[in-house]
Formats: sequence, structure tokens, C-alpha cells
Amino acid sequence: MASGSDIKDIVAVGAGKGGVGKSMVSMHLAVGLRRRGAAVGLLDADVYGPSIATLAGIADAQPSPSPTPGDAGTPRIRPFDAGGIKVMSMANFVAPGQAMIWRGPMVHGVVQQFLRDVDWGHLDYLVVDLPPGTGDVPLTLAQTVGVTGAVIVTTPQPLALADAMRAARMYAQLGIAILGVVENMSYFACPACGAEHDVFGRGGAARAAAEAGYPLLAEIPLDLALRANTDAARADDDFDRPADDPVAAAVAAMTDGVVEQVRQRRAAGPPPEPIAMHRPGPPAGNGGKPSHDR
Ligand SMILES: Nc1ncnc2c1ncn2[C@@H]1O[C@H](COP(=O)(O)OP(=O)(O)O)[C@@H](O)[C@H]1O
Ligand SMILES: [Mg+2]
Repeated sequence: MASGSDIKDIVAVGAGKGGVGKSMVSMHLAVGLRRRGAAVGLLDADVYGPSIATLAGIADAQPSPSPTPGDAGTPRIRPFDAGGIKVMSMANFVAPGQAMIWRGPMVHGVVQQFLRDVDWGHLDYLVVDLPPGTGDVPLTLAQTVGVTGAVIVTTPQPLALADAMRAARMYAQLGIAILGVVENMSYFACPACGAEHDVFGRGGAARAAAEAGYPLLAEIPLDLALRANTDAARADDDFDRPADDPVAAAVAAMTDGVVEQVRQRRAAGPPPEPIAMHRPGPPAGNGGKPSHDR
């Protein structure tokens, strides 16, 4: 592998559908891990709908070259700094609102560049916000780097769950372990009447996760302040709420669950190697170099 960055664990965040809160979960997971003292990167690999730049508050930042080139002197890009998290998103390379037309090979190329030609430096975790559904990006990810595991985000209704589980099966086929499932928009805690309304049929993800043998990491309620904080790049504020606040408890549980699942994967063996699929070239592996030397 190229580039000399040193990334311990890559955690992908995927979903069956768009709009279920995948980017919100990616951002909060990155913030949660950073708050636990880890060195964290956040890669927006949702090239079709990149929103991490906005959620991280770096939408207007301009890319700049890194002073340290990669292997063989290749120039590299410096990631953006978002409150101590290293962030890279396609959104910073195109004019706002510009339509991006991608062919499969272009997606493959840009995701590889994000992994190889960004000067990530040392990271304990690189959180990767995947595009929804199955497709090229998870395939490229699995071919380019060893992915420690994926977090599946879904809303509780059966149609969303079916797609989420389909995406999970694709990751598993690519050798990406499923770290667990986050049920988002689990219920609505009504500030006016105090009742919890199960808008989308709360608990669906818990049942689907149990059936598939995946841990349920968290149930995050629909919450007005969560939406406001997320979209204004204030994910930290959700962790700073009183500990008995359901959103604070859920994002903390999600972070702890991912840390624990990654720890268990690491205890069981080294992180997976990139896979070789559908392409000529050397078999799986990276030429004998340790896989954390990306
Ligand atoms: N639990 C939630 N409560 C309220 N708003 C939410 C919640 N989860 C996500 N949102 C909001 O819903 C919108 C879509 O979320 P986003 O993370 O962008 O979805 P995706 O990445 O899956 O397309 C965003 O405005 C986000 O802030
Ligand atoms: Mg998104």
C-alpha cells in the first residue's frame, strides 16, 4: 500500500437507504471517539451525496497540499481539521450545488486517492461515511485497505431494514465484519406531551440485528436539537447533554459499542488485508508489508 499513513482501524458506516442518518452517525461516532482520546479521521466516501463537510463545519475550506509527500515522492493532500478530527470530503473539491456525474471507475479512483494520497498521519480510527446501498465504494474500500468493520444505520420500518440488511450482507461478502446496527429515528420523545411516539415502529432494528447475529449498538431517537446540532456542525453538544438525556446516552453507547467491537476484532487477530477481486494482479495481501502501514 502507498502513502505512509498509519491507520490502526477503519470503521465504515453504511446504510441501505439515504436519509436515515448515516452521516449524522458518522460524525457523532468520530466526535465520540475523539472525546475518548483517540486520533480520529473522517472520510466522506459518499461521493454521490457528500455532507460531512457541512456536518464538520469545513464546507468552505480550501484543499491544500501536504508538506510530506507519499511513497515515491507523490504529492499528497492535507486533511482538514474539524475540532481535532482530520476530515476529507469531495464536497471541498467541487462548487456548492454542482452535480457530480460519476462512472464506476471514477468512483474507484477518487476513493483510492482519498485513502492513499491524503496525509492522514497516525490515526487510531478512520471513520468512513459510505454511500447508501450496495455498490462500487464498499468494493473499492475492501480492495484498497483492510476494513476492521462496518456499522449499519437504519430506521426501524421494515422497508428500510430490508435494504440495510442487504447492504450488511454485501459488506460481509467483501470480508467486512459487521460491528453492529444503529437504529436511528427510533422514536420521537414529544417535548410537548412527554410521550414517546414510535413513528417508524421502534425496535425493528433490534429484531433484525438479533436475527442476523449482529450487536445492536444504539437506538437514537428523533430529536429536534440533534438535528439542529448535527446540521450546524455541533455534534459535540449532543455529548455534553446531561447523561440521562436519551440522545446523549445513545451516542455514548454507540461510541462505546464500536470501541468494544473493534477491540474484540483486534483481540481475535490483526486487521484484515485488502481483498483481491475481479481484477488481475497479485493475490490478496499487500506485498508482505504490515497492513497498518498504509
Ligand atoms: N435522530 C435524528 N433526529 C433528528 N434529525 C435527524 C436524526 N438523524 C438524522 N437527522 C437529520 O436528518 C437529516 C438526514 O440525515 P443524514 O445523516 O444526512 O442522512 P444520510 O447520511 O443517511 O443521508 C439531517 O438533516 C440530519 O441532521
Ligand atoms: Mg449522508
